[in-house]
Amino acid sequence: MSTLKSVNVDGEVKRLTVPDIRARKRRNGAAPLVCLTAYTVITARLLDVHTDLLLVGDSLGMVLYGLDTTVGVTLDMMIAHGQAVMRGAKRSCVIVDMPFGSYQESPEVAFRNAARIMKEVGCAGVKIEGGAEMASTVTFLTKRGIPVLGHVGLMPQQVNIAGGFKTRGRSQDDAQSIVDDAKILAKAGVFGLVVEGVLEPVARRITDDVDVPTIGIGGSPVCDGQILVTEDMVGLFNDFKPKFVKRYMDLGGGIAEAARLYADDVKSGAFPGPEHCFGMKEQQHNDD
Ligand code: KIV
Repeated sequence: MSTLKSVNVDGEVKRLTVPDIRARKRRNGAAPLVCLTAYTVITARLLDVHTDLLLVGDSLGMVLYGLDTTVGVTLDMMIAHGQAVMRGAKRSCVIVDMPFGSYQESPEVAFRNAARIMKEVGCAGVKIEGGAEMASTVTFLTKRGIPVLGHVGLMPQQVNIAGGFKTRGRSQDDAQSIVDDAKILAKAGVFGLVVEGVLEPVARRITDDVDVPTIGIGGSPVCDGQILVTEDMVGLFNDFKPKFVKRYMDLGGGIAEAARLYADDVKSGAFPGPEHCFGMKEQQHNDD
């Protein structure tokens, strides 16, 4: 199973590469790709042993910074969080999202910004949203040493055009245009495709028609792998819950409960106890 750690001859954990990810097509017998988002060193450390790919997603704008959309995310934010994730992840292939405005203008601008991410973060590649209009940029980047993960279907950076975060592929025309986009991007050189918020038949057609792995988020189990926003998966981001999210725990509830117990202890004097203090006799503390 490819989710097991790969180890080199010296017994060191080997990081998964872009070609390793690109080879993970289930129809060729590969195991499904396990992918999650990570924005911090601590989550990267916790997730790394279980994941093939960690995405430093621009969803961090909404999840960590409380923005309404991902449009306000900057290159500096992505680089700072990418660096933190690289410090925590030893095995997973780390990919960083290019934020809105950093790649749409021209292939040259995209290259300059993607090269900055690659140099300053040390990640394996970048992800960009978009369809056929991004094909020349994908080819420009990949031919110059920058692996690109595509992202089709529901594209959060298009929220102002779409008028919200809406499921895609409901009409025949829309479904066809998403499938066409996916095929064009695969031909242009992406090593994989995130397929977000589309009807199952659309994800199925893309997965059948392209040679690179598809990574679904609201793309159904037909995809070659799955990704979720970690804070959604652990119940830490509760502003809204898309239908495609499965919550595995209520970490937010756990943190709130811990804070309540701590506040009670501080108010009652139960914390800090003598075991948390320096140079203090137990008796003195009890006398206070
Ligand atoms: O920004 C992000 O976290 C993403 C995932 C939802 C795929 O693009």
